[in-house]
Amino acid sequence: MKMKGIILAGGSGTRMYPISKIYSKQLTLIYDKPLIYYPLSILMLAGIKDILIISNAETVPLYQKLFEDGSHLGMSINYAIQPEPKGIAESFIIGDWFINKDNVTLILGDNIFYGKLDFIYSAVKHTDGAIIFGYRVTDPERYGIVEFDNDGNAISIEEKPQKPKSNYAVPGLYIYDNNVVDISKNLKPSARGELEITDVNIEYLKRKKLKVIKIGRGVAWLDTGTPESLLQASNFFGVIEARQGLKVACIEEIAFNMNFIDENQFEKLISQMPNSLYKSYLERLLKEK
Ligand code: DAU
Repeated sequence: MKMKGIILAGGSGTRMYPISKIYSKQLTLIYDKPLIYYPLSILMLAGIKDILIISNAETVPLYQKLFEDGSHLGMSINYAIQPEPKGIAESFIIGDWFINKDNVTLILGDNIFYGKLDFIYSAVKHTDGAIIFGYRVTDPERYGIVEFDNDGNAISIEEKPQKPKSNYAVPGLYIYDNNVVDISKNLKPSARGELEITDVNIEYLKRKKLKVIKIGRGVAWLDTGTPESLLQASNFFGVIEARQGLKVACIEEIAFNMNFIDENQFEKLISQMPNSLYKSYLERLLKEK
């Protein structure tokens, strides 16, 4: 059984009005590349080559234009439409043909992780039950919140609780075995009318098949929920890229480093790009090799 990846990148995005009238948030620039490049790069660095991007009917064609079938990156990128934002867990119902008999990692198209992420890459190799993460935040009312006992075991998970039992939010990165498809099909919509990812995790917890890994302070999980947090994320990556002269989430570079493509394919990919700073960066990488 292999691990497949889903990126959920739809939603109404009305918080980003007026741009949301014509454009999806996951396509907005974070410093020098679209937001969705960041979650896609996490899946790639975890070695996942089979990807399904789910979005609304207006935006799927834009993703198709951006990533095509993924073969230039040595990947297979598929697309599916979610007609209405009926909940994160709907990903596994919409994507059941894609998941088939395999395991699946879901990442939300607006979630950015940065730092030493080996714990994610090894978690993806795991194939029994579910693995989610806990990240300390100052505003726990806004997230799925996990409560731990004294031994560090998860004992409850609540979606956007008014009285949070901890400060540990569950980021939008979820690793599941194949049971997630059946679990999602049996969910009932919540009070806000959505198939909640938190209810999927509660079911795994009930079955004693949920592992929650606490993420330490050396890792950044950035918020992209407001214009201000988008600006902060752009500044964050602008500073890092300027300092190191290396790009974060450059998917062509990752495809090459992960051996998804060989040097000839990498060269061809670069030669097809229009003149741009992005292209110059990749040309420099090739020369420095
Ligand atoms: O970011 C992590 C949080 O994501 C978790 O801690 C919560 O447990 C989880 O429910 C979710 O909370 P949000 O309030 O951030 O969910 P939101 O409705 O904003 O959706 C997250 C992203 O997924 C957003 O970019 C839109 C997209 N989405 C969402 C839903 C519900 C879809 O594409 N389709 C959907 O049906």
